[in-house]
Amino acid sequence: MLTIGPYVRLLKNRRNCVSYLLQWVLASLALCILVASLNRPVSKNAEKGLDPFVKNYQNAINSHKSKTPGMPDMKIEAEYDPCWGRYIYIRDLPSKFNTDLLHNCQSLTRGADDNMCPYIDNMGLGPKVRDDFVDGVLSNGSWFRTNQFMLEVIFHNRLKMYECLTNDSSMSSAVFIPYYAGLDISQVLWNPNISVRDEAGYDLVRWVSSRPEWRRMWGRDHFFVAGRIAWDFRRQTDESSDWGSKMMFLPESRNMTMLSVESSVWNNDLAVPYPTYFHPSDVYDARQWQDRIRNQERPYLFAFAGAPRPELRFTIRGEIIQQCLDSGGKCKLLNCSSLTNNCDNPVNVMKVFQRSVFCLQPRGDSYTRRSTFDSIIAGCIPVFFHSGTAYAQYLWYLPRNYNKYSVYIPFQDAKKGDKIMIQERLLKIPSQRVVEMREEVIKMIPRIVYANRLDGRGDFEDAFDIAMKGVLERVERVRRVIREGGDPSVGFSEQNHFKFDFPLP
Ligand SMILES: *[C@@H]1O[C@H](CO)[C@@H](O)[C@H](O)[C@H]1NC(C)=O
Ligand SMILES: *[C@@H]1O[C@H](CO)[C@@H](O)[C@H](O)[C@H]1NC(C)=O
Ligand SMILES: *[C@@H]1O[C@H](CO)[C@@H](O)[C@H](O)[C@H]1NC(C)=O
Ligand SMILES: *[C@@H]1O[C@H](CO)[C@@H](O)[C@H](O)[C@H]1NC(C)=O
Ligand SMILES: *[C@@H]1O[C@H](CO)[C@@H](O)[C@H](O)[C@H]1NC(C)=O
Repeated sequence: MLTIGPYVRLLKNRRNCVSYLLQWVLASLALCILVASLNRPVSKNAEKGLDPFVKNYQNAINSHKSKTPGMPDMKIEAEYDPCWGRYIYIRDLPSKFNTDLLHNCQSLTRGADDNMCPYIDNMGLGPKVRDDFVDGVLSNGSWFRTNQFMLEVIFHNRLKMYECLTNDSSMSSAVFIPYYAGLDISQVLWNPNISVRDEAGYDLVRWVSSRPEWRRMWGRDHFFVAGRIAWDFRRQTDESSDWGSKMMFLPESRNMTMLSVESSVWNNDLAVPYPTYFHPSDVYDARQWQDRIRNQERPYLFAFAGAPRPELRFTIRGEIIQQCLDSGGKCKLLNCSSLTNNCDNPVNVMKVFQRSVFCLQPRGDSYTRRSTFDSIIAGCIPVFFHSGTAYAQYLWYLPRNYNKYSVYIPFQDAKKGDKIMIQERLLKIPSQRVVEMREEVIKMIPRIVYANRLDGRGDFEDAFDIAMKGVLERVERVRRVIREGGDPSVGFSEQNHFKFDFPLP
C-alpha cells in the first residue's frame, strides 16, 4: 500500500521549527477568537432574526414545539419526548452509493484473491464463528469473522435500528448519509487517473447538497462513516502520485463530518474504533468474557501480531520483530504475512493476545491498527510507539490519562540511535501496576465493541451508541454557535497540527 505520502509530509512539516512556532501562535489566536465568540451575547443578526441559519434553526425548534402545544419549555419537552435532541434523519441515496456496492461484492477485493462477499452477512458483522470452532479460546455465540472495511455497513444497519429515527428532516438533530465511502473508493484508489478517483466524491456532494435539508445548517448537521483511514479521502494536490481522493477537501465536505477508523489532522474527521471479532449481544455476554480474560493465564510477557514492512522506513516493525525473536520465549510473534492468513482467524489472534500481558502496537501502513482493539478485547495491555496510534484518535472512547491503560514508548526514542529495549522497559513495570492497567483495559471493552443487535435487543452502550452521542453533541455545539450569531466554520474543519502532539508522560 502506498499510503505513506501524507505522513512523510507531516513529518517534514514538523521539523520546521519556525513554522511550528508560528502555528502555535496562530492556534492560540484562533482559540481566543473562539472563546470570545462563545462568550458573546446573542448578536444583532440573531436578534433581528435575519440570519437564515438562525431562522431555520428556530423553525426546527418550532416544529418540535407544535407537537406538544402549550409546552414551550424545552426542559419539559425533553421529559415528554425521550428522543428530544436525538432524532436522526437518514438521507435517501441512489443505490449506487451503497447497496449496489454490496451486490458487486465480487469485485471488491481486499487482497490478491479474496473478495468481500462473505463479510456482508449478519448486518456487516460477517460470518459467525461456529461454537464448535471456538476451540476453547473464544466464548460461544459472540464471535464473528468481521472485516474492518464493513464498518460502513455495520453503522448503516445499526442506524436503521436506531430508536430515534425520523422521516421528517426538519425534526432531526443530525442527518446521516448512508454512503459506503470506503467500499466505493477502494474500487479506484489505485487508479493513476485522479479524475477517476475523485468522481464519486463530486457526485455524492452534488447529490447531498441539492436537498432542502442541506440548507438548514449548510450540511453542518450531516455525517457519514468510512471504514478506511481519513487520508484516503484527503489528497492535497492533483499529482497523480499523491495518495487518495480529494473528497474531504470539496467545499461541501468541509461542512460535513466524517467518522472513520483513523482521523487525519483536520477537525471534521473523527475516529471511531475498528470493528473487532467480538460482538456481544448483551451485558451478560460482555461480562462473561471480561471475567474470563481477567483470570486468564498469561505466559508471554509481550506479543506482536503483524507482518514485516520493509518498504516503510518510518516504522520500527522490523526492530520489534527482531526483539521478539530474540526474547528467549518471553515474546510471542504471530506472523500475519499475507501468505499465511494467520491473522484472519479470530481464534489464532485471540489465542496469542489473551496469553500475553502486553501487546505491541507499532504503526503500520498508517498510524492506527485494528490490532489495538483486538488486544483490548483480549485484556492485553497495548504498548504504543506513536500518539497518533490511539491517544490522539479515539477521544470519545479512551481514558484521557493513557498511563492508566497503556504503555507509551515514544517512537522518537527509537530514532535517537539508542536502541529501545522493549523487554527491559516492560519488566520494570511493577506487577501491581500491571494488574491495575489490565483492569482498566478490561473495563473499556463494552465501549469499544460493536454489539450484536441482530435480534434488536440492546442493553449496554457500545461503540456505535457512543459515536452517535458524539455526533449529536458536536452538531448541537455548532447549532448553539449559529443561534448565538457566531461563525459555525470556526473550529469545524480546519487543520489542527497539534492533534498528534501529545504531552509526554
Ligand atoms: C459451546 O458450544 C460447543 C459446541 O456446540 C459445546 O460443546 C460447548 O459445551 C459450548 N460451551 C459453552 C460454555 O456453552
Ligand atoms: C419512514 O417511512 C418509511 C416508508 O414510508 C416507513 O417504513 C418507516 O417506518 C418510517 N419511519 C419512521 C421513523 O417514521
Ligand atoms: C482520466 O479519466 C477521465 C474521466 O474518466 C478521462 O476523461 C480522462 O481522459 C482520463 N485521463 C487520462 C490521462 O487518462
Ligand atoms: C458551508 O457553510 C457555510 C456557512 O457556515 C456556507 O456559507 C457555505 O455556503 C457552505 N458551503 C456549501 C458548499 O454549502
Ligand atoms: C513470516 O511469514 C513469511 C511467509 O511465510 C516468511 O517469509 C517470513 O520469513 C516470516 N517471518 C518471520 C519473522 O517468521
